[in-house]
Formats: sequence, C-alpha cells, structure tokens
Amino acid sequence: MEQTSEKRHPVLAGVPMGIGAWSWGDRLVWGYGREYADQDLEDAFQACLANGVQLIDTAESYGQGRSESLIGQFLQAGEQKVKIATKFMPYPWRLGHGSLIKALKASLARLDLPQVDLYQIHWPLPPLTVQTWMEAMLEALEAGLIKAVGVSNYNRSQMQVAYDTLIHQGVQLASNQVEYNLLNRRVEKNGTLRHCQELGITLVAYSPLAMGLLSGKYTPDNPPHGTRGGKYNRKYLQQIQPLLTELRRIGADHAGKTAAQVALNWVMRKGALPIPGAKNAEQVELNTGALGWSLSDEDMASLDKISDRVTAG
Ligand SMILES: NC(=O)c1ccc[n+]([C@@H]2O[C@H](COP(=O)([O-])OP(=O)(O)OC[C@H]3O[C@@H](n4cnc5c(N)ncnc54)[C@H](OP(=O)(O)O)[C@@H]3O)[C@@H](O)[C@H]2O)c1
Repeated sequence: MEQTSEKRHPVLAGVPMGIGAWSWGDRLVWGYGREYADQDLEDAFQACLANGVQLIDTAESYGQGRSESLIGQFLQAGEQKVKIATKFMPYPWRLGHGSLIKALKASLARLDLPQVDLYQIHWPLPPLTVQTWMEAMLEALEAGLIKAVGVSNYNRSQMQVAYDTLIHQGVQLASNQVEYNLLNRRVEKNGTLRHCQELGITLVAYSPLAMGLLSGKYTPDNPPHGTRGGKYNRKYLQQIQPLLTELRRIGADHAGKTAAQVALNWVMRKGALPIPGAKNAEQVELNTGALGWSLSDEDMASLDKISDRVTAG
C-alpha cells in the first residue's frame, strides 16, 4: 500500500525522495577527507538543488557536527530551496527537556537557520521515556524552532507512544526513520510500515541502497572498504548476486535504469520515502534518476521474491 501524499504531514507532502548527508564529514565509516572532500560535497549539494531534491537529512552526530556545518555553509552561499531534517541524540547524560532545546539551538547555529523543517529523535535510548522527549519536541514547536516532529529507529510500540503524546496536543508525528531496503525488509514484515501508513506517519527509509551494495558496484572480489566490509563480506556479496542481476534486468526494461535506481524506486513503490546517501554530484544525479517513472506490479513481485530468497537463512 502506498502512502498518498495527502496523508503525509505537510512538511513531507509531495517529497518523494531526499538525500542523506551522513557521509558529509564522516571519516570513520565513509572516508571523508580521504576518498572525497568538501568540494565534492558542495557539488553534491548543488546537484540536489539542480535536480529538484527537496529534502536533505542530517544529524548532530554526523561527523560530530561537521555535516550540519557544511550544509549551513552551502545554504548560505545561495537561496534556500531545500528542506532540512536533522536529529537529536538522546545521550544518557542528557536528562531533561532543556537538553533537547540546547542541542537543537546548537544544530541551528551550525546550519545557520532559525528553524529546521523536521527534527527527529535519532534513537530511542534510555533513560528518559519516549513521552519525555515528545514533550520537549512540543516545546521546540511552540518556540518556532522546528516545523515538524519525527522519530528514528522506533519500533511500533515506541512510535505509538510518540504518536499518542503528540496527537493529544493536536500535533501529528511526521515520520519514523528506519532502515529499509531490499536486503532488510524487517519493517515491512513486522507491520511497522503498515502501521505508519494507517497513522499518516511517513516511513523515511535509511540506507535504501544497503550502504551502496544495491548499486551493484561491490562484488565478492571488490568488497567495500572499512567498517562496511565487515558487515558485507565476500560470502554475503556472493549470496546477493541474484538480486543484483534481477535489479539490472528490470532496469534494462525501463529504458536503461541502473540497479540503484530500481532499488530506490522499489522503496518509493512500497510507500516509503528513501534518503540515499551521496558523496558527490554524480551520485545525486544518478539517484534522482529513480524519480519520474514506476516499477510495474510484476517487477515488484519479482523483486520481493528474489529478496526473500537471497536474505533467507
Ligand atoms: N537514522 C539513522 O539511524 C540512520 C542510519 C543510517 C543512515 N541514515 C540516513 O540515511 C542516509 C542514507 O543511508 P546510508 O548513507 O547509510 O546508505 P545508502 O543510502 O544505502 O548508501 C549510500 C552510499 O552508497 C554509495 N552510493 C550512493 N549512490 C550511489 C550510486 N548512484 N551509485 C553507486 N554508489 C552509490 C555511496 O557510497 P560509496 O560510494 O562509498 O559506495 C553512498 O555514500 C544517511 O546519509 C543518513 O542521512 C540514518
């Protein structure tokens, strides 16, 4: 079931896809400063504007604030035409509403903005309750510092508590950002996606390319470097080859779309909003090629079947 745009929070209505900025400043996982530099990211940002990308997703923790600072610089260089989503990390030493407002103001300073479009709780970490953080979000809304409230990595029951706390005050929970791609369909299978659609919450799909794997450029002989290589080893890359073959076959049937474009279109056809990461303009341009066309029901059924097969066991 697709989520129609009308059911979405106004901040996300009519936004089919965003771009993720985790790698913008992150050295450890993504190799910022070694494999790509600020100019590549500025070019990626400009490519977002040129290609009609309406949403960029970042977080205070990405590159320890570097992602937000870079976006702030890029935004100042031109007229703002893109919505910004960022995230609050409820570290265990952050013990009250005040800590969220303080962190939010620090994010706004780095972004050089008076308000963000979407503010998300990054993870449902203890010790404070979901309800407490939603009350802090209501204060941020009241203060005009944010336009909409989101959560991330929340399971169904945590999401329901967040939704109930906000709706009690007449506020709609805009989104739940969770991992969702052809190699990880947990949120589809455990009912979270359906639950989001019933409540008008947009499921924002992170790692929609399975950290680059669904582009098909990594193979058993050419695994990704660094921490990604540990998660996605040679054996795993071998196991998923039939899915990559099918992505390419279906892409060829759609006027030469790439495997990544087919994988992103699959996420959108499921009713979720993908935010593929991009380290340069070329990746932004390629990923926006997932827009403006649609996989058939037959394509979807075939991808579902092969994804089940390659991820079984
Ligand atoms: N809320 C959370 O806890 C959470 C967790 C993870 C991510 N996120 C968000 O979701 C966004 C996306 O997730 P992600 O970055 O983990 O993974 P992803 O979108 O699945 O993959 C992004 C990576 O794939 C490669 N790539 C992208 N487009 C490509 C293309 N067209 N062709 C070939 N390779 C391409 C790039 O890395 P290489 O070129 O190095 O392969 C890129 O950094 C993040 O930026 C972040 O905003 C949120």
